[in-house]
Amino acid sequence: MIQSLSSSISISMVDVVDINAQLLEHFEKKVSGLEAVHFCIHQTPLEKFFQQHKERYDLITAFFVLYLIPSWHEIVEKTIIRLKNNGCILLAEEIGDFRAVKICPSESQTEEEKSLREIYKRFWDNLTEEMGAPLYSLQSFSDLGLLRDILRLLEIGGFVSLEYEDIWWKNNEITFEELIEIFRGKNLATATVAVYSKNSIQEFCKRFQDRVCDWDRVKGKKIPRKEGHRFWTIRLNESPEVVAEQFGKVYKGLVTEFEIHQSALGEIAAEGF
Ligand SMILES: C[S@@+](CC[C@H](N)C(=O)[O-])C[C@H]1O[C@@H](n2cnc3c(N)ncnc32)[C@H](O)[C@@H]1O
Repeated sequence: MIQSLSSSISISMVDVVDINAQLLEHFEKKVSGLEAVHFCIHQTPLEKFFQQHKERYDLITAFFVLYLIPSWHEIVEKTIIRLKNNGCILLAEEIGDFRAVKICPSESQTEEEKSLREIYKRFWDNLTEEMGAPLYSLQSFSDLGLLRDILRLLEIGGFVSLEYEDIWWKNNEITFEELIEIFRGKNLATATVAVYSKNSIQEFCKRFQDRVCDWDRVKGKKIPRKEGHRFWTIRLNESPEVVAEQFGKVYKGLVTEFEIHQSALGEIAAEGF
């Protein structure tokens, strides 16, 4: 996969951390034949694991996990500290429709496909905003944007080396009615760690239909969907302490900048421009 990891590495000890017992059972079954590796399973939140275990690792992986942790930046900082010198972090995250980042229309689409995807994006935006957990919240990590920017700045400063690889595929096309049907009668927990009740979801779907003024035009039309995963390799070029400190500083700097812009925009809006 990624060049810098392609040289053969031998792994003898692995700590596996997850809060979910079923996930860990599934994992144990999958690795049951691997006798050369000793797996130590911890059913505990990552935050607690890092408080209780002070070992240093050559490699730490977090596949599709950070987006579920509101304090993701603290976890990344702690992860860096727990690496050995020249240690490596492997991350995998969603970048497709699920994350609503690449959901915007592309040039190769017909006008009708573009308009369907715009409405599809509006569905997810409205849902998360109404439920008080916007997908693009700075604190939620939901689109990887802030982490990506921090890592790029650390790379420019020579603190880390970065590589990433994207894999894309087309998902089954779906109509808006099918999309809404998926939610009917269900409670929903989203990637931004909000839980929506059956009733609020049902009411949302009704409001969404009313809001899409040309509902009759989109009814029955298949929405083209695109899914993707991004795999990151982050290798430390400085000591873990130095990289972690820089990570914290850059995070705080970007958040402060963002907040200043937000408040300036708020003042402009209040002045009625
Ligand atoms: C989408 S699954 C990915 C599972 C696995 N890493 C994989 O790639 O198949 C997300 C996992 O993150 C776990 N998780 C969420 N918050 C966590 C936390 N604070 N500490 C540890 N695990 C957490 C969930 O229990 C779930 O198993």
